[in-house]
Amino acid sequence: MRVVEVTAYGGPEVLRTATRPEPDPADAPGRVRVRLRAAGVNQADLKIRSGRLAPVLGGLNPPFVLGYDFAGTLVDPAPGLPAGTRVAGFVPWVAEGTGTGTYAETILAEPEWLAPVPDEVDFTAAASLPLSALTAAQALDLLALPEGSTVLVTGASGVVGRFAVQLAARAGHRVIALGDAGDAHELRVLGADAVVARGAPAEEVAGVLGFAPARVDGVFDAALIAGPLMAVVKDGGAFVSASGERVPGPERGVRVDAVVGRPDRARLEELLQLLGAGGLATRVADVLPLEGAAEAHRRVEAGHRPGRIVLMI
Ligand SMILES: NC(=O)c1ccc[n+]([C@@H]2O[C@H](COP(=O)([O-])OP(=O)(O)OC[C@H]3O[C@@H](n4cnc5c(N)ncnc54)[C@H](OP(=O)(O)O)[C@@H]3O)[C@@H](O)[C@H]2O)c1
Repeated sequence: MRVVEVTAYGGPEVLRTATRPEPDPADAPGRVRVRLRAAGVNQADLKIRSGRLAPVLGGLNPPFVLGYDFAGTLVDPAPGLPAGTRVAGFVPWVAEGTGTGTYAETILAEPEWLAPVPDEVDFTAAASLPLSALTAAQALDLLALPEGSTVLVTGASGVVGRFAVQLAARAGHRVIALGDAGDAHELRVLGADAVVARGAPAEEVAGVLGFAPARVDGVFDAALIAGPLMAVVKDGGAFVSASGERVPGPERGVRVDAVVGRPDRARLEELLQLLGAGGLATRVADVLPLEGAAEAHRRVEAGHRPGRIVLMI
């Protein structure tokens, strides 16, 4: 089958198309084959490719195949999902530690990673959602705030942040979105009560306090701004980072934590249903062929590109 391999740690040029044997389900009892149609390109893929995450990969070295998010068709039946079902999910790539990701024609998946894709949702939209939306949902779980709380979401123009804004609004919170000024209207439509334009940390803090003079109950920091934002959190509030490397020190009884997105079949099914029913919006920035993975990484690295870049397989 066709795959894209990381041939050595480095820039996007280390990504190369290669051929590998189709995975054999006999090698992993309980797992099922998924014939992939689309794979999302995540920030984590870039961090792994560059070697930044090498210390946590437990001796796994290139060549390996990147990729968390996927959408495709089941080759083998899974519990409750007949062969042929359109499914999406994500491979917990670092936790798996096998280097067999979704930049590939076929993967072996745990049934727990998979949820059915509603008819209204195409493969590219489905592949843009699993890791980001589950991480956003799980970050809000970690904040554990009562309905009606005031929540700041940073990186609101990004994929994880946009899902977090929508899910926090659906949970009945008052949402302040910190994102690009040009996205203010869209973020309000998605459920933000207020939008603060990104800028220098002092300006961002002043902007948030302008909307919430008594400070906010919780922050989900998808932009990894960290320390400077503690100034906007109430005593006894909560702060959840999208990265364990960017967690501020605890102070004034503020709970600090980092989210690590994990597969959750039931939750993913709810999120995909919501997407199909128009209750949740996703944004696909670009669709490139699998062979365009290096170009996709260049585009993500260049930033300022709201939405998930998806590889069609
Ligand atoms: N813990 C987990 O399990 C998990 C799972 C998924 C993602 N993540 C992490 O979550 C983060 C967001 O992921 P994503 O997929 O949403 O990435 P993304 O789509 O690139 O979004 C990140 C957003 O943050 C913005 N940003 C960067 N620095 C900022 C700043 N100082 N102030 C305000 N906005 C800023 C970016 O803008 P520009 O593009 O204009 O710079 C972009 O809009 C990444 O670090 C990713 O690795 C963690």
